[in-house]
Amino acid sequence: MQTSIPKYNKAEIHYSLIPYYWNKGYAFEAVKALLNFGFKRLKLHRIQAGVATGNSNSIKLLQNIGMKQEGIHREILPIGGKWIDNFSYAILEVDFLEENP
Ligand SMILES: CC(C)(COP(=O)(O)OP(=O)(O)OC[C@H]1O[C@@H](n2cnc3c(N)ncnc32)[C@H](O)[C@@H]1OP(=O)(O)O)[C@@H](O)C(=O)NCCC(=O)NCCS
Repeated sequence: MQTSIPKYNKAEIHYSLIPYYWNKGYAFEAVKALLNFGFKRLKLHRIQAGVATGNSNSIKLLQNIGMKQEGIHREILPIGGKWIDNFSYAILEVDFLEENP
């Protein structure tokens, strides 16, 4: 029997805090709340995020939250007059719910 998979239960997150609120754990808490909402309420299958390869604060956040790096998009972001590479990160429902039942 063929099961039906909903096509659109995927999401991408973006976030930005003003510098006064950096290094206090607030971004981590906010992204965790988004993942909880996405997986537990919206029943999403996968949530992804992109991050400039030099953005160490955001890379650390994505790794701390349990996202896995899946690849790199070369010269995809136009920032400061240059083309910047972007890592793609994602977390699956099964990974998140195992750590956050
Ligand atoms: C990306 C961004 C949201 C990360 O914010 P952040 O404050 O560094 O992220 P977190 O909330 O995870 O905070 C982590 C730091 O807070 C500290 N911290 C203090 N109290 C904490 C707490 N109660 N819980 C967790 N961390 C805490 C930790 O020491 C941690 O630093 P460490 O990992 O070096 O030890 C922020 O840099 C930003 O808005 N940047 C500009 C926009 C941007 O780049 N957006 C992302 C585009 S991809």
